[in-house]
Amino acid sequence: MNHEKILEILHFRHACKQFDPTKIIPKESMGTLLEVARLSPSSFGMEPWRFIVVTNPSYKNELQPLCWNQPQITSCSHLVIFVAKHHSVQDSSYYERLFARRGLAKEALTQYLKRYKSYISSLPSIQEWCEKQCYIAATNMMSFGAILKIDSCPIEGFQKEQLQEKLKLDTTKESVALVVAFGYKVQDPTQKHRLSREDIITWID
Ligand SMILES: Cc1cc2nc3c(=O)[nH]c(=O)nc-3n(C[C@H](O)[C@H](O)[C@H](O)COP(=O)(O)O)c2cc1C
Repeated sequence: MNHEKILEILHFRHACKQFDPTKIIPKESMGTLLEVARLSPSSFGMEPWRFIVVTNPSYKNELQPLCWNQPQITSCSHLVIFVAKHHSVQDSSYYERLFARRGLAKEALTQYLKRYKSYISSLPSIQEWCEKQCYIAATNMMSFGAILKIDSCPIEGFQKEQLQEKLKLDTTKESVALVVAFGYKVQDPTQKHRLSREDIITWID
């Protein structure tokens, strides 16, 4: 893939406001995008996420009022809800299992666990730490979706408590980080607006 192609893909991706409800993402493409999410990087490799994929039209209808009545919720092909598992990352049986996968020597593992526990106890909010990482998986899905010519819209416009209740989440353990709608646009996006490179990039050479 050359540089022009990368820029073309980045310009293809936009926050799609209206999807064509008759166009459904092929199973294989959605499977690949969910692999993209699963293979995304996470701090300490904790994979503090799970993904709820909604295709059921009546369930989407029920979710829409909880998401500022945004049309993307019902018109998209697949709605992915990124759930942060903030309880799991504090549960020793979970994080010890994940660290054990690395096959580290006993001493290295002990050191690693010590560092991890000290790190998470220093965080102002473990829930936010987990939610931030869900954004990485979501971003990857949107970017790779664009390669497959799949449109998307990241959605933070939802009533968190009501949505969590609807999804029957135990909020002492999990929270909704964000929602992303995937599908195919009905019309071409409007022009992209971005700050200039000079505005946002500082080089220290
Ligand atoms: C975290 C996040 C939350 C967003 N929430 C919404 C939303 O609820 N509804 C919506 O229509 N767009 C939403 N957007 C889309 C942004 O408005 C959009 O990405 C931005 O204006 C830039 O436009 P572009 O993505 O088309 O380049 C969200 C974007 C991000 C990154």
